[in-house]
Amino acid sequence: MKAVNRALELHAKRDFVQPLKPYLRAHGANGHIADRIIAMPAHIGGETPVSGIKWIGSKHDNPRVHGKERASGLIILNDPDTNYPIAVMEASLISGMRTAAVTVIGARHLARKGFRSVACTGCGIIAKMQLQSLLEQFPKLTDIHLFDLNKDAAERLGHELRQRFPRINAKVAGDAEPAVREGEVVVTCTVTDQPYIPYEWLRKGAFVSNISIMDIHKEVFLRADKVVVDDWDQSNREKKVINQLVLEGKFSREQLHAELGEIVTGQKPGRETDEEIIVLNPMGMAVEDIASAHEIYLQAVAARAGTRLSL
Ligand SMILES: NC(=O)c1ccc[n+]([C@@H]2O[C@H](COP(=O)([O-])OP(=O)(O)OC[C@H]3O[C@@H](n4cnc5c(N)ncnc54)[C@H](O)[C@@H]3O)[C@@H](O)[C@H]2O)c1
Repeated sequence: MKAVNRALELHAKRDFVQPLKPYLRAHGANGHIADRIIAMPAHIGGETPVSGIKWIGSKHDNPRVHGKERASGLIILNDPDTNYPIAVMEASLISGMRTAAVTVIGARHLARKGFRSVACTGCGIIAKMQLQSLLEQFPKLTDIHLFDLNKDAAERLGHELRQRFPRINAKVAGDAEPAVREGEVVVTCTVTDQPYIPYEWLRKGAFVSNISIMDIHKEVFLRADKVVVDDWDQSNREKKVINQLVLEGKFSREQLHAELGEIVTGQKPGRETDEEIIVLNPMGMAVEDIASAHEIYLQAVAARAGTRLSL
């Protein structure tokens, strides 16, 4: 939370360098949307500057075919004085944790105060981290509505959450619609490339954290009271929904309410009324990964943890 907040502040102050991330797709446009390796380099400034890169692979069928998590990756941190590598770290846990922190920070600023219900579509590892973090950070949250095309995944997640947070009531829905309609906060964690959440399903005052990016229909972006992204340039590319709307001449930077860092630093307001429907579209930023990895690296050095390698 601390590291991601810092990354968002530096992003708003433009004290960072973050080249657009290339997607390596071995099967080109014919492959599944979640089959790719993404290179995410960044330099962050501030009092403890650091550079680095996340190299994160994904295959949509890893869980089913190989019994492995969908995503795997490495982070390399570099000392900006010499540009020498200073650490090689596992990335998928850091990546999942920072993504959960983005939703929590988003919910602090963009969800209704004292919200009690969250709906989550897609119940894999990212969903688990999202819900655990929300439940840890928002003690009034009690109602969890889950939906997954694979019902076992939803049942399993519901069971795990009930074990860990006895205060909650976790329900598994038979369809996405009844789950989404219940959520004051809605989090998407699927691997779909087909939008299925229309505007009508969203409650007045809903906050949507659109983690898996492709789930909500285009009209939601056009009818929502506020659309927030993490980084406009990263959101407006790769034929993702916002990019499609821009290419169709229906959406532009002027219609965007803010980048999340501008809200965190108070340059732009967050939620202003209980009625607003607010969509956060977080593509995921390398500055969040590198800031989080650096925080963990500093703690590991202080604790003399890790293995020293010579170059
Ligand atoms: N925005 C970010 O910064 C960020 C960061 C990390 C991961 N992600 C995204 O999070 C998503 C989930 O990742 P994961 O590692 O948990 O994947 P996963 O494969 O472990 O889980 C995905 C789950 O979604 C379910 N599902 C697929 N299509 C569905 C649909 N249409 N409706 C309901 N359920 C559906 C699957 O059955 C599966 O249980 C991915 O799309 C990934 O790209 C985003």
